[in-house]
Amino acid sequence: MRRAAAEPRLARPRPDEPRSRRGNLTVREALGEARATLTSAGCETPRLDAELLLADALGVGRERLVLDGERALAAGHSRAFRRLLRRRAAGREPVAYILGRRSFRRLVLEVDARVLVPRPETELLVELALALQPRARVLDVGTGSGAVALALKDERRDLRVSGSDISPQALELAAANGRRLGLDVSWLRADLLRGVPDEFDALLANLPYVAERDYARLAPEITRHEPCAALSAGPDGLASIRALLAQMPAHRRVQMLALEVGAGQAGSVARMMAEVGFDDVRAERDLAGVERVIVGERARV
Ligand SMILES: C[S@@+](CC[C@H](N)C(=O)[O-])C[C@H]1O[C@@H](n2cnc3c(N)ncnc32)[C@H](O)[C@@H]1O
Repeated sequence: MRRAAAEPRLARPRPDEPRSRRGNLTVREALGEARATLTSAGCETPRLDAELLLADALGVGRERLVLDGERALAAGHSRAFRRLLRRRAAGREPVAYILGRRSFRRLVLEVDARVLVPRPETELLVELALALQPRARVLDVGTGSGAVALALKDERRDLRVSGSDISPQALELAAANGRRLGLDVSWLRADLLRGVPDEFDALLANLPYVAERDYARLAPEITRHEPCAALSAGPDGLASIRALLAQMPAHRRVQMLALEVGAGQAGSVARMMAEVGFDDVRAERDLAGVERVIVGERARV
């Protein structure tokens, strides 16, 4: 019987051989030490991080770590793992930047310090847009890595999807993700909706929404590594959303607007959306129960 192509495996130490004689740590030992290092560095998910980094250093899937727990790490693999671990523990670099990738819905996106690491709660924006009418034109404002635009196109091929951002560096990465994934999304550089043609039926946006006074209190992964311009939005965190809504009168075609917001911002954003003519406004909760996306609908004006 033919076996499926084997994943790379690691050298097996003799079962009773003491570690000092073997010289090298086993997978299980390396994970244990890494977990302890990451815990004392203050990382929130030390076990998961350790597994992701070790799997990456070894070039294997995470499940292989359990199967190969008693195998010894080769010196080169150990060195590679220690390098990744140092970036995570000492530098507090997000795992997604270290690995250079992040899963978002069905996609694996390339990410780096040019863009915010896409968050699981943002998947809700995509989910809500799945109900759009066939062939609707959709713009993901502040697309970053392209996460929302690309995931939507992936799941609704009939939609005509665009992504915009003020950051040319972010757009470069979004476009590269689109090409690599073979997803036909168009990209435009714009300050919110300035200069954007009035041709979209729906707008989705995860714009910056962190209040200035809260920004410095965020985790070092965020303040040291993620672009501040992707997160911070004026004294109350609503500067970008307010500016976007102020541009809505020039976008008469838009019938559906969905905005991701921070905890506690839902009421203010819903009121602002009603003020610019969305009559049917509701808040959708994320998996943690937070009112996360405000959706407004209106008849075409
Ligand atoms: C919170 S990040 C979201 C990125 C991506 N949509 C996601 O969910 O992962 C906000 C994005 O909005 C962009 N942005 C900030 N101000 C903007 C503006 N005035 N016009 C367009 N994009 C803006 C940032 O460059 C950043 O990519």
